[in-house]
Amino acid sequence: MLVTGGAGYIGSHVVRLLRERGDDVVVVDDLVTGDRNRIADVLLVEMDLAQSNAPSMLQTVMHEHNVDRVIHFAGRKQVGESVARPAWYFQQNVGSLANLLLAMEQVRVTQIVFSSSAAVYGTSEGAALREDTPRHPLNAYGETKLIGEWLLSDSVGAFDLRACSLRYFNVAGAGWAELGDTAALNLVPMVFERLDQGLAPLIFGDDYDTVDGTCVRDYIHVADLAEAHLAALDGLAGGSARHDVYNVGTGLGSSVREMVDEILRVSGLSILPEIRERRPGDPAIVVADPAAIFASIGWTARRGLVDIVQSAWDSHLLLQRS
Ligand SMILES: NC(=O)c1ccc[n+]([C@@H]2O[C@H](COP(=O)([O-])OP(=O)(O)OC[C@H]3O[C@@H](n4cnc5c(N)ncnc54)[C@H](O)[C@@H]3O)[C@@H](O)[C@H]2O)c1
Repeated sequence: MLVTGGAGYIGSHVVRLLRERGDDVVVVDDLVTGDRNRIADVLLVEMDLAQSNAPSMLQTVMHEHNVDRVIHFAGRKQVGESVARPAWYFQQNVGSLANLLLAMEQVRVTQIVFSSSAAVYGTSEGAALREDTPRHPLNAYGETKLIGEWLLSDSVGAFDLRACSLRYFNVAGAGWAELGDTAALNLVPMVFERLDQGLAPLIFGDDYDTVDGTCVRDYIHVADLAEAHLAALDGLAGGSARHDVYNVGTGLGSSVREMVDEILRVSGLSILPEIRERRPGDPAIVVADPAAIFASIGWTARRGLVDIVQSAWDSHLLLQRS
């Protein structure tokens, strides 16, 4: 099995689960945001999937390691950077997937699970975003994920591809403390970063039409998300060429204030959050309807907010020490 981006936050959790159940894994990663230490003894091929010779290099990797399935995590994920450098984001995220599919077609590898994102929904909001809710991504990052899904749909007819795109909602927590998220791009690590500096956590907007005025999001534990990948992969094993698309969320919304309160409770710190202006483009409520993935492959989230925050905090403390 080939796992691209396997040295990253989410990918390394899935690699760990795959290894625990005895699957052979080879990771391809350029280590730009990944960390070799996350995958210890797993075979790593270090390369940029977007480079022009990637298809032939990937063919060699697939041949040499008898690859029959792929999980494609590799991708750049900084929204601000994607707005500043759209062409590079398209080259990186869409280019990498195109290179991967070229190689897969050549060596007849026909199963792939793809990291998509709730960012494909963009301005759509509501208590339950379904997979068929209109997609209007707000930035180049979300667009690269939507185009990735289109590319997979187009490839189904081209070479009997069996693909599954998982649209992750807000991923947080750690399944193993040493695999926690170290990039301060999402709410939980961003609050940790402020607390480390002795600063108040920031809340952007408290006048939304929500339970306490702050934005509501669907937080999914990375360990639950990792399990969803194994279910998706196993679901591809039989059947005909197709592209399935599933939301991966809990279906439950938590407000930013609830998350911040929980972080302060777990960390034992007492510091009042600071309210700032709303950020442009932040929808009030983004929550998944996760019914489809449960109905099709039987996956459902098992862990809640307390687990998410506690595991993230434990990981933060461990990684700070090391
Ligand atoms: N973390 C989230 O909340 C979230 C939400 C929705 C979707 N996603 C998607 O999930 C995937 C994994 O995210 P993550 O949070 O683990 O991020 P991450 O940055 O920790 O992991 C991405 C990995 O891919 C590697 N990589 C990126 N571009 C590459 C390239 N061109 N060639 C080779 N390797 C490359 C990086 O070095 C890194 O190891 C990404 O595609 C991301 O867009 C993440």
